[in-house]
Amino acid sequence: MTEDRSSSPVLDEIARADSLAALEAVRVRALGKQGEVTALLKTLGAMSPDERQVEGPRIRALREAVTAAIADRKAALEQAALDARLASERLDLTLPAPAAPQGSVHPVAQVMDELAEIFADLGYAVATGPEIEDDWHNFTALNIPESHPARAMHDTFYFPDAPGAEHRMLLRTHTSPVQIRTMTSSPPPIRIIAPGRTYRSDSDATHTPMFHQVEGLVIDRGIHMGHLKWTLETFVKAYFERDDIVLRMRPSYFPFTEPSAEVDVGFTRDKTGRRIIGGAEPDGWMEILGSGMVHPKVIAACGLDPAEWQGFAFGCGIDRLAMLKYGMDDLRAFFDGDLRWLRHYGFAALDVPTLSGGVGA
Ligand code: PHE
Repeated sequence: MTEDRSSSPVLDEIARADSLAALEAVRVRALGKQGEVTALLKTLGAMSPDERQVEGPRIRALREAVTAAIADRKAALEQAALDARLASERLDLTLPAPAAPQGSVHPVAQVMDELAEIFADLGYAVATGPEIEDDWHNFTALNIPESHPARAMHDTFYFPDAPGAEHRMLLRTHTSPVQIRTMTSSPPPIRIIAPGRTYRSDSDATHTPMFHQVEGLVIDRGIHMGHLKWTLETFVKAYFERDDIVLRMRPSYFPFTEPSAEVDVGFTRDKTGRRIIGGAEPDGWMEILGSGMVHPKVIAACGLDPAEWQGFAFGCGIDRLAMLKYGMDDLRAFFDGDLRWLRHYGFAALDVPTLSGGVGA
């Protein structure tokens, strides 16, 4: 038992261990319960005192040398791992920052912004009203009295009757009650548009229970159909961003306008047969809105003298306007909240519509 412990093969193995796992295996083989160095220590018990005096310090020195070598090697391996990680994870601060995730503007909101921009240029303010309305504003003041058959034109969502309440509450079926709210709250002259949500119990590919309309209202002295026609033409040309658009006004009936007109916009077909809004000689017509001269009874219901104040109004489906301009074909997709649809049809958040920059930019 006189071999030189300082050149033990265990120390060589420690020096060669190239991973923390390999080093741990060497440690178990040397210092573990069944380890080689442990076994040497156990031989001390069977030795004579003289022998032990010589071998004891040697074996313990070996154990210390192995323990120290393992600790050193472990520190070196850990340092190497850290160095490698630091080298691979180095940040290059000169690289451009990754783009922050950005939402997009829903086509309905985009069209509302476009309408506000177009009508602001014509001197109109944006007015709002509640989506939960009473039947006086939604129907009665608009010359649709109780039991009038015209109420059946709207499939209305009613709230349960509150005991003692003066009016039935409902989800507004159109934006026309904003006409009433504006006329009863601000003196004429009035020039407003009122974009917003409307509700009818209706659901198929072209009708959703919630949809969007924009109301237009002008009340002033000496207003006539010519003003209405010019305004609608100016609006439609600005909105579809072309001048060769032909409008057609068809006589119609709304209880709150007299006379009333439905307005169609002319379309032409491209080579593939697709309908394109506009063209001096239309191939066909698409209805886009209802309009007319505000009924004298409506003006009177709002406390104004119809002999002094006249005006026109129109109401237009915003979802349909968006579909016609931006080419979506299923209305229901507007309200699915599908991110792929929104990324495809949505608009850049900071791209604000302006008349000079193009409302549909
Ligand atoms: N409120 C009508 C509708 O929802 C549209 C309209 C508004 C018609 C204003 C004439 C004047 O169908």
